[in-house]
Order: sequence, then C-alpha cells, then structure tokens
Amino acid sequence: IDMHVHLREPGQEWKETIASGSAAAVAGGFTAVAAMANTEPVNDNRAVTEMILGESRRHAACRVYPVGAVSKALAGKELADIGEMVAAGAVAVSDDGKPVMDGSLMRRALEYSRIFGVPVLAHEMDAQLAADGVMHEGEVSTMLGLPGMPPSAEETMIARDLLLAEDTGGRLHVQHVSTGRALTLIRLARRRSIVVTCEATPHHLTLTDQGLVGYDTSLKMNPPLRPEADRAALVRGLKDRVIDAIATDHAPHHVDEKAVEFARAPFGTIGLETAVPVLLTRLVHEGGLPLARLVELLSTGPARALNVQGGTIEAGAPADLTVLDLEREGVIDPEAFRSKARNTAFRGWPVRGAAVMTIVGGRVVHDAR
Ligand code: DOR
Repeated sequence: IDMHVHLREPGQEWKETIASGSAAAVAGGFTAVAAMANTEPVNDNRAVTEMILGESRRHAACRVYPVGAVSKALAGKELADIGEMVAAGAVAVSDDGKPVMDGSLMRRALEYSRIFGVPVLAHEMDAQLAADGVMHEGEVSTMLGLPGMPPSAEETMIARDLLLAEDTGGRLHVQHVSTGRALTLIRLARRRSIVVTCEATPHHLTLTDQGLVGYDTSLKMNPPLRPEADRAALVRGLKDRVIDAIATDHAPHHVDEKAVEFARAPFGTIGLETAVPVLLTRLVHEGGLPLARLVELLSTGPARALNVQGGTIEAGAPADLTVLDLEREGVIDPEAFRSKARNTAFRGWPVRGAAVMTIVGGRVVHDAR
C-alpha cells in the first residue's frame, strides 16, 4: 500500500491519470494507493471524491483511496467539507503540497479527524521559514548558490501539530519525515501517548543533498533531500519502529516542466515503479533491514496508519498480494515505466529485487515472471 501518491486526475492529465498512475502502482507491486487532494479542481468536496472513486472503478488497476483536502482549494483559510468527503469515501484529509499554516485551522481539522475517524496527513513546512528555498539549506546549497530551506521549517511545524494532536485527541500522520530531529520529536510525543504515525520516502532513505551537485531537477522535491546524518537517522527510524510506513510521494511532472533551470522546476519525484527494487537493494540486501520489516512498512504499516484493509493474508481477507523476486537483477529504466512521467531520482540504478506479480482482489493485474 502506498499511502502517498499524486495521480493528477482530475485536471493535470498530461502529468498522470488514474489509469496510468494505477498501472505504475501495480507494476511496482502496490495493490492500493492513497490519492492526494492537490488535483484541479482540488478534492475538497464530495463531487470530486465521487468522481475519483468512479473513474477508479472504471480505469484503475489497483485500489484507489481518495484523500480529501483539509482546506477549501488548499488555500489554508476555510475547512473543506470533511464530513461529506468522508461519507463519499475519503479515507483521510491532507493539504499535501502545501502546509496548513493557520494553527487554528489545523486544530479544527484534528478535532474533525477524531469525530470522523480519519487521520490528518500533514505536509509539515513553515512557509515563512522555507521561503523561496529550493533545496536543503546547508553546505551544498551554499556551494551551488541555490536558496535553501532550513530543516527547522519542517520540524517546528511537526512540533506544533504534535501539541495540537495531544490537545484535540485527533489523529495526526506526519508525511515524508526527512530529518533526524523530526523523528526525535515524534519519539517524544509517543512517550507522552500522543496518537501519531509517520512515513518516510524511498528517496529520503537512500539519497542525500550531495546528489544535487549536478542540478538534476528529478532530485528536486519537497521536503528536500537532506545530509547523510538525516538519511542515516531515518534508516534507524525504520529499525526502531518510530516510522510506521514507507510511502513514495509519487509526484509526476511532464518532462518539459522539469527540463528548466533548477530553481524554476516544480518539486516532486516519481516513485511507484522504483520503490520495491530500490528498497530491497539498498535497505535489505545492502543495509541489513529484515525483509519482514520492509514488508510491514509497505503493507500493514500504511494500512494501520490509514485505517484501511489490507496487509494480512488470511481466510476471508481480500486477496491483495504481491510476489517478490528477491534476486532479480536489473537497471532502473524510466523508458519502461507505465507512469506517464520520467522524473525519477533513480535513473540508471542497478537493482536487485523486484515485484514480479501483483494481485488485487484475487485478480492478477501485473505478471512479470
Ligand atoms: O515534491 C513534492 N511534490 N512535494 C509535495 O508535497 C507535492 C508534490 C507534488 O504535488 O508535485
């Protein structure tokens, strides 16, 4: 289950569609994806939620769980129709792509999350601290002459939302955690019994800001790639279980949109078709992460964080299954992707391990044996 995906439909079908994004998902071994609300129009009301579910029933190769917006038009001013979207089938709310800067709005969203039993998925970024930063603020940004975002832009917002979650009893899920200090805050919150879950992305777990030296816009994402110490802290967070899920933040953009100078390129990297091979190679084969733990981070972990079915193999449970070949060797080749997009951070990587068969609801939807 990939609990963080941008399918771009409705409204930005040149980047991705429900059909192409879900085809990429099953090719990568995912049986279900959560679709973020930053479409055009934004998924901030029942009609858009229903449209996404209807199109998914007709065209999607995997399960699609719509995520509704926290605020109308992601503008951060007025709460979206959360109750209506949940009634229509939204499994969570999120303004992902944009932070919820207004603390009182976030507080109310967390109150609603408790009432409606859905988590608030939070893109944590203080927009003033991040300002016009295009990468992590540090040695590398100074060397490259690019404006940076300090890690505190992410961490201060996490601290705020953990306190609001404690006060409201709402369900906070922190998206794409990217720094060691952010994990320290989440550990501390857990010790206070604050209900919080979090995810990390394959790119933050395997890449650092050093990679930006070539100004490759495929490596421009938000939150940005961090230094090695943060990457290593995230990997430790998988092992000590502070991180609940690995999610890709699959953020497709058209090649023309990314083929501009670094500062002007949109944020985002795709991930559905590279997550399993990259994670098996770097974390399991080379990094010593137990295979069972990786499987948990990609199945029962996200299922629990999103409160959706899946991740269990038992009589009566839906047959959503992925068969892995742990030894299959290959090279990441974007030209072979089912996704419409090519903005991968892993182009040309040699990998060992692949998803060779994906079964959704008992139906084989991908077979690369
Ligand atoms: O890099 C990103 N791209 N981060 C986000 O939060 C949004 C996403 C997008 O929609 O392209």
